[in-house]
Amino acid sequence: MKADQLLIEHHDVLRGLLTELEETTDEQGKERKKLLDDLVSELGVHVRIEDELFYPAVEKVTPLLAISQAEHRAIDDQLAVVLRTDTDGPDFATEVKMLAATLHHHAGEEERLMFPQSHALGEEALEALGTQMEQRKRQLENSTVTQTLRKAKREVLRRV
Ligand SMILES: [Fe+2]
Ligand SMILES: [Fe+2]
Repeated sequence: MKADQLLIEHHDVLRGLLTELEETTDEQGKERKKLLDDLVSELGVHVRIEDELFYPAVEKVTPLLAISQAEHRAIDDQLAVVLRTDTDGPDFATEVKMLAATLHHHAGEEERLMFPQSHALGEEALEALGTQMEQRKRQLENSTVTQTLRKAKREVLRRV
């Protein structure tokens, strides 16, 4: 699969999780925690395959790298805010909405601008990059070290 296609499909997974989270109510604290855990995992993997593989590969064919990296930090910051917000309190829905807006904006920008620009690399290179990213994605998803680190990060963020 081509690299940009892989990322678009994964954006849909992230959008789906956010929509599910937005549809929960203050009475569904447990459900919210589970969805948040999934979101932290998926988002962590997504940002890593972009930062480690996709962004360096497209560096020469897009002017959007610096802004995209800044948006990754903004997403991470807002995710930290969500993780620190009570899942059964009145602020949770508002903070999730802000996270969703930040992520929708970023993913939309990548899909509309950066990914079309990445086509300058050529089909073959995008296909090879996609294969590499798919392997890395699977590796990150399966890595117990990564899972433990993510869990630790979630716990730390929740306590701050
Ligand atoms: Fe991104
Ligand atoms: Fe992305």
